[in-house]
Amino acid sequence: MEKVTKSTPRLRLGVNIDHVATVRNARGGIHPDPVRAALQAAAAGADGITAHLREDRRHITDDDIARLMGALSIPLNLEMAATPEMLDIALRHKPHAACIVPEKRAERTTEGGLDAAGGHNHLAPMVRQLKDAGIRVSLFIEAEKRQLDAAESLGAPVIELHTGSYCEAPVGPERDRLLGRLREAAAQAERLGLECHAGHGIGFDTVKPIAAIPNIRELNIGHFLVGEAIFVGFEAAIRRMRELMDEAQ
Ligand code: PXP
Repeated sequence: MEKVTKSTPRLRLGVNIDHVATVRNARGGIHPDPVRAALQAAAAGADGITAHLREDRRHITDDDIARLMGALSIPLNLEMAATPEMLDIALRHKPHAACIVPEKRAERTTEGGLDAAGGHNHLAPMVRQLKDAGIRVSLFIEAEKRQLDAAESLGAPVIELHTGSYCEAPVGPERDRLLGRLREAAAQAERLGLECHAGHGIGFDTVKPIAAIPNIRELNIGHFLVGEAIFVGFEAAIRRMRELMDEAQ
């Protein structure tokens, strides 16, 4: 197992709190509060908080983003679709980071990565404006060479690899192939000078092989942690995820 040395920076854990808001919104009240969950996540060792303000506001709301910006002492990563409305919101709040994700109204969660290659002309001004405002921009993409090349040509300093298909694949050759694809993409990111993150669908069973990929610097994990919190509590779930990440590194 590789040792954590000065040349292997500690893998960061970004905790996504969207589904705390999903539970709150099921009853339309104020409980459970995603801001309280974010503060607990920070206390449990999260390095950052991630929240996706969707066009339909199905979980996180505009007010949640304002309150998170006021309450957090760790970085906020705002996941956003590439729309003028979301760009305005990001430029108003100036979170530490913004991750541009594809968004379809009818989807249950973010299905597939952003088409950075096909959407170049649309994305380029958005990436530039976010960067000019001092926001660290990442693009949520599939582990495909042409998407990484496009991210680099767009000037995004960070990419986040979509781990959903790897995490959903049954144990066996297909899962191994998808892990190999993530490894290759992370190596390509390093060659291109892009910081590499990963996320979507990660749980206790799938985190270690991803965390062991040397060039990945940050994992963003949400749904599994919120679900596990029902059984062991949010802090305990986050601490366990942190332990597994450290063991894998
Ligand atoms: N990273 C990105 C870009 C996402 O869109 C999501 C889901 O909102 C996640 C990470 C977290 O995925 P999950 O909730 O499945 O852990």
